[in-house]
Amino acid sequence: MDYVLADVFGWQPPRRYDSVFFAFWLSRVPPERFDDFWAAIEQWLAARGRVAFVEEADREGAGNEVYTGPGGHVVVRRLRDGSTHRVVKVFAGPEEIGHRVSRAGWHSAVRQAGRGWLVGEAWPIRSRPTRPRAHQEDVNWQSIGTATDAVAIAAT
Ligand SMILES: C[S@@+](CC[C@H](N)C(=O)[O-])C[C@H]1O[C@@H](n2cnc3c(N)ncnc32)[C@H](O)[C@@H]1O
Repeated sequence: MDYVLADVFGWQPPRRYDSVFFAFWLSRVPPERFDDFWAAIEQWLAARGRVAFVEEADREGAGNEVYTGPGGHVVVRRLRDGSTHRVVKVFAGPEEIGHRVSRAGWHSAVRQAGRGWLVGEAWPIRSRPTRPRAHQEDVNWQSIGTATDAVAIAAT
C-alpha cells in the first residue's frame, strides 16, 4: 500500500488501477468540478476497471449546520481552536447521484444501505457499455464501509 498526499484534482497516478474506491468523498466535490473529477478517474482506471464508493445519504445527519454559497453546498464549521472554515458538502440521494454520474459518462448502480448511507458502483460507458459481470451484490460493502482513507485505490 502506498500513501500519497496530493490534491486529488491534480494528481497523476503512476499507473492505471483495477479499482478506485472513495468513502465520504463525493459530497466534497464541488458541483462545478464533478464532471472533471469523473473524467480524471476514468484516466486512472485500467480496462474493465470500476469505481466503488460510500457516501452519506442526506442532510438529516447534518443537524443544525448552516449551508451557504451558491446552491447551498458550503457549510461553515468551527474547530476547537475557534477558527471557522468553509467546507463543501453536497448532499444527494441515490437517484440524483446516479443521474450526475451518468451525465459524466458513466454507468452506475447507487443504492441506500441502511439508515443514512449510500453505496455505489460505477464503470465508464466508453470502456464497457454493459454491466460488469461481478456486480454490486458481489462487493463486500461491509469491509468497504469501514475503510477510512479519503481515496483508496486497490491495484492487482
Ligand atoms: C469527509 S473526509 C473523508 C475522509 C475519509 N474518507 C473518512 O471516511 O474518514 C474528506 C477528506 O478529503 C480530504 N480532501 C479535501 N479536499 C481534497 C483534495 N482536493 N484532494 C485530496 N483530499 C482532499 C480532506 O482533507 C478530508 O480528509
